[in-house]
Amino acid sequence: MGKFYITTPIYYPSANLHIGHAYTTVAADALARFHRLRGDDTWFLTGTDEHGQKMEQAARAAGKEPLEFVDGIVAGIRELWRVLDITYDDFIRTTEPRHQKVIGDIFTRLWQKGDIYLGRYEGWYCTGCEAYYTETQAKDIGYHCPDHDKPLERVGEDAYFFRLSAYAGRLREHIERNPEFVQPPSRRQEMLSFIDQGLEDLCVSRSSFRWGIPVPFAPGHVVYVWIDALCNYISALGYPDGERYRRYWPADVHLVGKEILRFHTIIWPIILMALGEPLPRRVFGHGWLVLESGKMSKTRGNVVDPLVLVERYGLDAVRYFLLREIPFGADGYYSEEALVRRTNSDLANDLGNLVHRSLSMLKRFAGGRVPAPARREPVDDEIPALAGEVVESFASSMEDLQISTALAEVWRLVGRLNKYIDEAAPWALRRAGDERVNTVLYQMAEGIRLLSVLLKPVLVRSAPLMWESVGAPRPFTEVTWEDTRWGLLPPGSPVKVGEPLFPRRELGGALVTTPHAAGPEDKPGAGPAREAATARPAGQAEAGKVEQDRGIRVAEAGEGEEGLVSIDAFRRLDLRVARVTGAERVPGADRLLRLRIDLGGEEREIVAGIAEHYRPEEVVGRSVVVITNLQPARIRGIESRGMLLAAQEGGRLVLVTTDGDIPAGARVT
Ligand code: MSP
Repeated sequence: MGKFYITTPIYYPSANLHIGHAYTTVAADALARFHRLRGDDTWFLTGTDEHGQKMEQAARAAGKEPLEFVDGIVAGIRELWRVLDITYDDFIRTTEPRHQKVIGDIFTRLWQKGDIYLGRYEGWYCTGCEAYYTETQAKDIGYHCPDHDKPLERVGEDAYFFRLSAYAGRLREHIERNPEFVQPPSRRQEMLSFIDQGLEDLCVSRSSFRWGIPVPFAPGHVVYVWIDALCNYISALGYPDGERYRRYWPADVHLVGKEILRFHTIIWPIILMALGEPLPRRVFGHGWLVLESGKMSKTRGNVVDPLVLVERYGLDAVRYFLLREIPFGADGYYSEEALVRRTNSDLANDLGNLVHRSLSMLKRFAGGRVPAPARREPVDDEIPALAGEVVESFASSMEDLQISTALAEVWRLVGRLNKYIDEAAPWALRRAGDERVNTVLYQMAEGIRLLSVLLKPVLVRSAPLMWESVGAPRPFTEVTWEDTRWGLLPPGSPVKVGEPLFPRRELGGALVTTPHAAGPEDKPGAGPAREAATARPAGQAEAGKVEQDRGIRVAEAGEGEEGLVSIDAFRRLDLRVARVTGAERVPGADRLLRLRIDLGGEEREIVAGIAEHYRPEEVVGRSVVVITNLQPARIRGIESRGMLLAAQEGGRLVLVTTDGDIPAGARVT
């Protein structure tokens, strides 16, 4: 157990934040939550960077005073963090007195030491970037800022300067001696070369605008951007003598976008050196989310609003996508299609199915209580072994800030558990009266419990539901890293089968309704099912109610705007070849046959409305096609778990069968 202090950049409240800002903050949140889970004394700081000419101009354009203007946007930012469930411990605003006081003191101190001196600045300035361009840079871009599409201004004024140049040698040495300091490692050389080009002293005050922290000893000057902004990381802790400062400084990670990595690995450490304070352990510059249409910017009107995405796809999907899709450190394309793809494949298919099928088997085969493990086979031991391995590598990737890799590790276990269920076939074990079924069921439940602990930092809505679904004992809020040990779930824990955690989504957020996700009650008065052209499920002869319960609605709900069924909706149907092993008439129902079918290791009963067309002995031994993943329906007191396909024309009905020999259980696609 140690301490962990993590920060995000403080964001400019000149406009509402977009998905790019959410990316940094969600990543910092996941890391903070991970360290709390580890038992580290964790402090997570975020905030807003509220001064400067740009802000003054934005306020003026909105017809407001600067503070009044930023207050409104800051409220929106806090609301965004609430929706994204960001667990920051402190939110610093650079307009707060606690910050202003520290900045005034730091500025005076550096001046008294001789690290800040009065000079004159002249240069090419972009008010959008709040940055001067050197003569060469300005010439290269034709004296016109490409990011803000406005001409650079020639600015000259008296200004204070910070002696960066005096510290270049010490900084270089620090970066060389501390390979962890600049992250990812690929950016280290870039920073060293930057130092080697020669550091110029930095202009740290301005007298051409008012919206800033006054320089205490120089009326008319305000502290200019980087000293004000960077020192938030210590002012918020109560530098120089606050209890929190002693407890948490130096920072363990400053998480920033790559475009401001340089300020954090050059200017910031030099400020700290000049103050005689320890340097942060790591500064991590992550890549950008870019759109097919280029960089996200308000002027281009292509910003993606995270609130809309959460509304459409749910919080966990958005958090998971951001953290999993792009290797942390690299740039990556953002698109809503990619979000939907990722959500459906990893969350709905892999994790969601694992949870749902496990819970329903625990319910059906073990009466809804986690059984005690019994007879084992060597393959059963592979699961705890893999879980141990995954826990280790997940932790070390998270320590190394490789969040996407850490999640990929977790999905190794998800994938293995799904395969384990397919191979161990608990339904067959149960039928054979093999007590190993209890071992397999126990491991399925324990797998879900353990996954919920690992996913606690990321899937903040569904991890607690997973934990509760297998009846794990303590409240989820009390979960610690100790809970990643395999085998802690007590046999006898009650299982709760709820709604699927991750329904499949269409682009735009509509649900791809599954038989589990929507019953008729979701759509009162839904009309009758459309007749499919040639093949239609047979066996609904008895009741329209049964029709609705059993899958016709799958197609209905998956219909696109033109009445077409989406490929996703179709793929949700699990169509299988089944061998009919027994058939008999249902007493009192002229049209129904009760069939026993073999699905390649699993036996089921279904009730089909084919008795007017087939005698029982005619169907036994035939290969038929069955939809296997419908909700079971009770027909004449018999539980029917599946539906036959048959083709119908006029008064004729024939079974859909296969052209050639193929084993029972084969998938029909
Ligand atoms: N106020 C400064 C930071 C001062 S820190 C002492 C600032 N603010 S900002 O509002 O422009 O936010 C910049 C940060 O937002 C980036 O460093 C990055 O973390 C995040 N991102 C903004 N757009 C982004 C993308 N398109 N993609 C990924 N992250 C992005 O700079």
